[in-house]
Order: sequence, then C-alpha cells, then structure tokens
Amino acid sequence: MSHNNSKDKLWSGRFNEPTDAFVQKFTASVNFDKRLYNYDINGSIAHARMLSKTGILTAQECEHIIKGLEDIRAEIESGNFAWSVELEDVHMNIEARLTDRIGDAGKKLHTGRSRNDQVATDIRLYMRDAIDAILIELTRLQQGLIDIAEREADTIMPGFTHLQVAQPITFGHHMLAWQEMLARDHSRLIDCRKRMNIMPLGSAALAGTSYPIDRQLTCEQLGFDAPSENSLDAVSDRDFAIEFNAAASILLTHMSRFSEELILWASAQFDFIDLPDRFCTGSSIMPQKKNPDVPELVRGKSGRVHGNLMALLTLMKSQPLAYNKDNQEDKEPLFDTVDTVIDCVRSFADMMPAVQTKKDNMYQAARSGFSTATDLADYLVRKGLAFRDAHEVVGQAVRFGVENNKDLSDMSLQELQGFDGRIENDVFDVLTLEGSVSARDHIGGTAPAQVRASVARARALLA
Ligand code: ARG
Repeated sequence: MSHNNSKDKLWSGRFNEPTDAFVQKFTASVNFDKRLYNYDINGSIAHARMLSKTGILTAQECEHIIKGLEDIRAEIESGNFAWSVELEDVHMNIEARLTDRIGDAGKKLHTGRSRNDQVATDIRLYMRDAIDAILIELTRLQQGLIDIAEREADTIMPGFTHLQVAQPITFGHHMLAWQEMLARDHSRLIDCRKRMNIMPLGSAALAGTSYPIDRQLTCEQLGFDAPSENSLDAVSDRDFAIEFNAAASILLTHMSRFSEELILWASAQFDFIDLPDRFCTGSSIMPQKKNPDVPELVRGKSGRVHGNLMALLTLMKSQPLAYNKDNQEDKEPLFDTVDTVIDCVRSFADMMPAVQTKKDNMYQAARSGFSTATDLADYLVRKGLAFRDAHEVVGQAVRFGVENNKDLSDMSLQELQGFDGRIENDVFDVLTLEGSVSARDHIGGTAPAQVRASVARARALLA
C-alpha cells in the first residue's frame, strides 16, 4: 500500500516514506548545478524536437514544451524561479516547473531519456562554452605577451639557471618563453574540447531506450560531432572533466611560474619591473609596501586547481559501470576550476600590458654576473682551443674577476691575455651583452632579430 506524502518528487511512486530531511539536503545538487540551466533547457528542447520528428510526441506537445521551457529560461534569468531543494537538482526543478506551467505535455518530456544521459550531456555543453570563454582570455594574454616581446626585443636582462645569472637574454625572449607555454595550453584545451564534443543523450539510464529515437537529429541540433558509441560508457564517462582539469592544472602551473618570476622581479632585490599600482595593494602597517597580490593569488590559486584534479581522479577511480551518484561530485571541482582559470588568465591579460620594465637595472644585473663567460669560452674555441680547455681558462678569468670585483668586459686586453695569449681586441665584441645576445642568432635563440621573427610567427598562429 502506497502512502507516500512527498508528492513533489518525480520518482516517489515506489517509496513508502518521505526522504529524511537531512538526506534531502545531503543528496541535493541544485544549489550548484542550477548553473547548468541554459544547457539543460537547450538539451531538453533538442530532445523534444527529436521526439516530435520521430512521432513519439505530437507536434503540438512539442510546441508547448518548447514554449514552456523558454518561459522557464526567462523566469530563471529574471530571478523569478523558485529553486527547490526538495526537487534535488536542476533537471527535476525545471521539469517539475514545466509540468506546472503546461500540464500533461510536460510529463512527456522525459520520454526516452534519463537524468543520467541528461546530466552527462549538460556538462559537456557547459564545458564547451567554458573552454571557449577561457580560450578568449588566454588568447588575449598570449597577444599581450607577444606585443611586449616585440616592444622589448632589444631589452637585455640576465637569463637564469638555478636562479643564478647564466647568460644574457632579452626580455622579449623571456616573454616568448611564457607565450610558448600558453600556446601549448591553448592547444591542449582545443584537443580536450574535441574529445568532449560527443553526445551522450539517447543513452538514457545506461542501456539506451526502447523508443525509436533519432540521435543524429539531437546531435546536429546541439552541435555535437557524433552520438556516443556506447551507452554504458557515455553516462558514466567523466574523462573529459579530468582531462580539462589536467589541462587547466598545467596552465595554472605555468601561471604560477610566471607569478613567481613577477614577484621576484618586482622585489627591491631584483627591481627589474614595476607592477601597475592598480594590480597591487598596500600593507595596513608598513606604509612603504606595494604588494604583488595578483601574481601571489594566481600562484596560490594554482593549488586549488591541482586539488580539483585530484578530486576528480579520485572520484572516478573505483566506480563500477555505469552511472553512480558519486558522479554528482564532479560539478563543484569542475565549476571551481573553470571560474579560477578564467579569473587568473583574465587578471594576467589585463595586468601584463601595463607592467613596466626597468631596463637599466636588468642591464646592470646582466653585466654583473659574468653572464658572458660562455661567450668568452666560445670565442676561445673559435681561436683554436678545445671547449673543455676554454672552459677552464674562462673559469680562471672569472675567479680573477670575483677576487677583483670586475666583470669580464671590465678587464683590460692585457689582463685577458694573461689567461690566454690568443685573446685579441675583437674579444670585446663578444664580451658585451649586446654582442652576446645577437650572437644567438638562430631559430629559438635570444637574438633580437630572432625574437622579432618569432613574434611574427606567434602572431600568425594566433590569428
Ligand atoms: N544530479 C545528478 C548528478 O549530478 C543528476 C543525475 C542523477 N541520476 C540519478 N540516477 N540519480 O549526477
């Protein structure tokens, strides 16, 4: 004997008592999945049209459903939709409201479908747009870096390994290194979007449906590349969420590295750049402070994106086929990653063009770290020494420089000749910072001409 008193529920037929009040809240996802409403409505409209074209619904029922769903979309957008936790999730909230509004036709919308294929479809639709939005910001950041690289193609700075001055490079070259990382992130996101663009709708709960559905029709309407090949896989697959979050994690790892460099460069100890005031904050106690909050936060936020990746991997790792309620836990990490990535990339895209370089400081830093030692060794090799011997000779010159507080280019010809008699006056062409950077004149090298050529190629690829 059925005496359920939770009439609101769309699945209460077989239940003998209402859901425990806490369990209701515990199992509900509407508070976070309502953000999928647009995609849920679009998916439902495509499904209704297909049901009508295949004769499963009448044309009139379909029209009522579509009109009802569009009205609900307007209700939600105007803030007049009463989301209800009793109705669990975005799907049942919208469906129940549809039946409220249009009566019995609303109850037919769910024919040949399950929330399992519905939600899998909704998230993919959402993720497609999310990736497109991220790519817009990412492209803007890449363009900004390319512009800086062009502007600073001749700006000399020290290049580091082990955070010790290594060889002179140009600031433009450094910006293009960042742009290369982002270009890979960009293509990873595009790849991920391609693999994601497969339609689960029609898989129903897990095995497909006995109605004569036409999946090509829904697929075309929703802009998917193909219907999924296996219904069990389609309702339970969250690879795309993991893959996206992995791509996002690498992107945020890159941005965390950029942040670290900006923070170092903006410090009084490096003093290579000035971050725009509007991207910094002060200290409530130390009046002199201008803190690089934006890069610090981006560096910090990379942690939550990495955490979300771990959450998603762990969420999926032991699930048997097909859908399990666990999957509902995919949304919060995913949404958080999308929001975090957009904010981080956007803040950098806004900030980077306004970063000012302190060219003299960078130049002096490059001069003071024996950054042209390799150039001197290469010079000696051209004069006939074996590289290992040249390395040793230059090592002695550097030791002399350290003891006497002299850079290589500050030493006299006589002093230099004391280390090797083959050194002549032309040595100063290679010991200058300008000579050193322009000598690295091949694809991928730091020579200003190469930086400009690389800028042109990067621009063409991005256009
Ligand atoms: N809110 C659910 C989720 O996000 C929708 C699918 C529920 N399906 C089910 N059989 N309980 O995963």
